[in-house]
Amino acid sequence: MPRLVELDRDHPGFRDPGYRERRDAIAEAALNHRGGPPPQINYTQEENRVWSEIWTHLAPLHQRFAPAGYRSLCSRLGFEEGRIPQMRDINERLLPATGFQMQPVAGLIEASEFLTQLGGGVFLATQYVRHPSTPLYTPEPDVVHEVVGHAASFLHPGIADLNRMLGRAAQGAPEPILTQIERVYWWTMEFGALIEDGHPRAFGAGLLSSFGEIRRLEEGANLLDFDVEAMASRDYDPTDYQPVIFVASCWEEFDGKLREWLGGRA
Ligand SMILES: [Fe+2]
Repeated sequence: MPRLVELDRDHPGFRDPGYRERRDAIAEAALNHRGGPPPQINYTQEENRVWSEIWTHLAPLHQRFAPAGYRSLCSRLGFEEGRIPQMRDINERLLPATGFQMQPVAGLIEASEFLTQLGGGVFLATQYVRHPSTPLYTPEPDVVHEVVGHAASFLHPGIADLNRMLGRAAQGAPEPILTQIERVYWWTMEFGALIEDGHPRAFGAGLLSSFGEIRRLEEGANLLDFDVEAMASRDYDPTDYQPVIFVASCWEEFDGKLREWLGGRA
């Protein structure tokens, strides 16, 4: 039977027929979705267990490396330790607060499509869960990354606005500019950081949702000044740890420099 979701041979779920069927079913739900509240996914006990295990490991790291207000943003979204939140429930809180809603996609999509939708207030996100054999690692964005990283960040004053600006700048942009915006999105909204109380704190969703990456703020990654031009010209590899993290001295620098760079593009 042809599969909807292709997995690489080294994907942790490649040889697990049950996992692959599950991925196909969740992808199908996304493909059949035609607007309105996102499909309800009845997460299994095992999937919820993966979520719990991730929280157990991430919570102490968030205390050390996330901005002070991050946990309260998570509780505003109603996250519970033993249950993966439903995208439709997140939207009920996200939409009135930010004007943004999440909508499901079956898997990785083109950056241009992602950014274009972002400009219109739609954050395209996955609903599947990583393979249970590797709860602390996923080779592709899963529901944990989307909600722990992106959905919570959107409630930060200013982040939703910057997302919208990045998305609008991408709409109709010629290819070279689109590539620059895509890179800037990566180095800010996925892997950006800023100094709080004298220490670098994770601001990007890729850092906040990754057990392995967030610790590299302390050791492993080269911390660079927050230079948006440098981000725009720096390519990235989504399949590996990021060798550098751009760190702003404060929120005002993060916000101000990004707005300035976007200035003629949004
Ligand atoms: Fe992401």
